[in-house]
Amino acid sequence: MNRATRIATGIALAFGIALQACAQSGNVEAGRKAFGKCIYCHQVGPSARNMFGPHLNGIVGRRAGSAPDYRYSAAMKNAGIVWTEENLRAFVRKPGKVVPDNNMRFYGLWSDKEAADLVAYLRTLK
Ligand code: HEC
Repeated sequence: MNRATRIATGIALAFGIALQACAQSGNVEAGRKAFGKCIYCHQVGPSARNMFGPHLNGIVGRRAGSAPDYRYSAAMKNAGIVWTEENLRAFVRKPGKVVPDNNMRFYGLWSDKEAADLVAYLRTLK
């Protein structure tokens, strides 16, 4: 490898890593928009109540199936997972794959980027 190639490879690598870091951390504003797809069933914010789905305040770090006064499916109640950012990203992409037989009727988001943005937004909800 000559010097120019090495430098070019280095730059491409650094760029790739930066892009990946970006996709992982997500964009809060874009996530707020993406949350428009969840709002029919989930409330967030100070006056959030359970609706068709449980409220999602403080969802990052919350145990699956643990919102008081919400009737979960047995699948969600017994999922035995904590909603880490990683689990949430996977869940919004493919709900039925992360918690099989759960009651959330949602196809899943189309892209990892949208999932990361969404989770960045969810993280802001205490
Ligand atoms: C059509 C209604 C509907 C839509 C749209 C929907 N959800 Fe849900 N969601 C539900 C229901 C119902 C449950 C409870 C599932 C169960 O008990 O099996 C649920 C459960 C969840 C849970 C688990 C909550 C807990 O307390 O363990 C998370 C997280 C979640 N949804 C996030 C989302 C996000 C983020 C979106 C948007 C990308 C979304 N949902 C879109 C209906 C919906």
